[in-house]
Amino acid sequence: MQTRPLGSTGPQVSALGLGAMGMSALYGDADRAESIATIHAALEAGVTLIDTGDFYGMGHNEMLIGEALRTAPAARREQALTSVKFGALRDPDGGWAGYDGRPAAVKNFAAYSLQRLGVDHIDVYRIARVDPDVPIEETVGAIAELVEKGYVRHVGLSEVGAETIRRAAATAPIADLQIEYSLISRGIEDKVLPVTRELGIGITAYGVLSRGLISGHFTADRQLAPNDFRAFSPRFQGENLQHNLGLVDALRKIAEQKGVSVAQIAIAWVLSRGEDIVPLIGARRRDRLTEALGALDVTLDAADLAAIEDAVPPGAAAGERYPEQQMAHLDSER
Ligand SMILES: NC(=O)c1ccc[n+]([C@@H]2O[C@H](COP(=O)([O-])OP(=O)(O)OC[C@H]3O[C@@H](n4cnc5c(N)ncnc54)[C@H](OP(=O)(O)O)[C@@H]3O)[C@@H](O)[C@H]2O)c1
Repeated sequence: MQTRPLGSTGPQVSALGLGAMGMSALYGDADRAESIATIHAALEAGVTLIDTGDFYGMGHNEMLIGEALRTAPAARREQALTSVKFGALRDPDGGWAGYDGRPAAVKNFAAYSLQRLGVDHIDVYRIARVDPDVPIEETVGAIAELVEKGYVRHVGLSEVGAETIRRAAATAPIADLQIEYSLISRGIEDKVLPVTRELGIGITAYGVLSRGLISGHFTADRQLAPNDFRAFSPRFQGENLQHNLGLVDALRKIAEQKGVSVAQIAIAWVLSRGEDIVPLIGARRRDRLTEALGALDVTLDAADLAAIEDAVPPGAAAGERYPEQQMAHLDSER
C-alpha cells in the first residue's frame, strides 16, 4: 500500500482512506455484513485510515467500525487509524439540530465515541462543522486537551475556510483538513490549499466521486430513498443531473482509452493533485473497494491530465455541492 503523510504533524497513512458514512447513513440502506467485510478487506489491502462521524446513523457507524475492528485479526486492528467527526446534533427521528462545539460537549462526544469504537484513543478528531456560537479556538483547545490526556492523537478540521484554518493552527498543531474535493468540486484550489500547504496541514478529500455521481455507476433512472442525500442534492436533480452525467460520459471515453474505470480516473485525478492529499473512498461493498483501490495503479501523464481537464473543466458541474441550507453551515464557502 502506498502511503502519504497526514500533514507535517500527523501520521503516515494509506494513500487512500476508507470513509464509512454510507455504511450507516445518507446513501440509503447498506448491508451490515457486507459493510464489515468491506472494512476487513480494506484493512487486509493495507488501508490504515478509517473515517467516521459520531452522528452517522447516530452512533451506528462507530459501533459498526468497533465491531469490524474487534473481529479483525490483531495485526489488522492495530494498523487502523480512526478519524472521527463530532458536533452535529441529531433528533431521535433522524433530523439535524445544529452543531455543538463547546469544550464540555467536545469531551462528552469523545467519551461516547471511545466507547462505541472500543478504542482507547481516537487518531484524528474534528468538529464536522464550526459551531457559530463557539470560537474555533475553544473547540480546538478542547481537542488539544484531549490530546494532552492521550484520548486523541491529532487535531483535524472539517469544511473550514482559510481564516478559520489559520486561527485553529494558531491554537494547536493541525494534522489535516477534511473537505470536499473532486473533479467537479474544486473550490479548495484558490484559497484553501495555499493556506494548508503554507501551514503543513494535510487534506483528506471526501466526495471524490461526488457521492457516486461521477463514479460511472450512477444512472438517471436510479430510485433513491427519500432520506438519501442525493434525493435532495442539487447536482442530482433534473437538468443538473443530465448535464453532470454528460460530464461522466466524457470521462468514460478517457477511461476506456486507458482501460480503466470512470471511478478510477476520478480517484486517480485527486491522487495526482499532490502528496498532501489523501482521498477518502466511500466504498461500502467489496467490489467497489477493489475498484477504488485500483486507482492507485493508474498513472495519469500530462496528456491524460489535459484530456481530463478538457472533459471536465473547473466549474463544469451544474448545481451546488450541498442544498442551500446546508451550504450555509460551510465555513469553507464564506
Ligand atoms: N467532512 C465532511 O463534511 C464529510 C462529508 C461527507 C463525507 N465525508 C466522509 O468522506 C467519506 C467519503 O465520502 P462519500 O461517501 O461522499 O464519497 P464518494 O466516494 O464521493 O461517494 C461514495 C458513493 O459512491 C459510490 N461509488 C460508486 N463506485 C464506487 C467505488 N468504486 N468506490 C467507492 N464508492 C463508489 C458509492 O456507491 P454505492 O451506492 O454503490 O455504494 C457511494 O454511494 C464518507 O464516508 C465520510 O467518511 C465527510
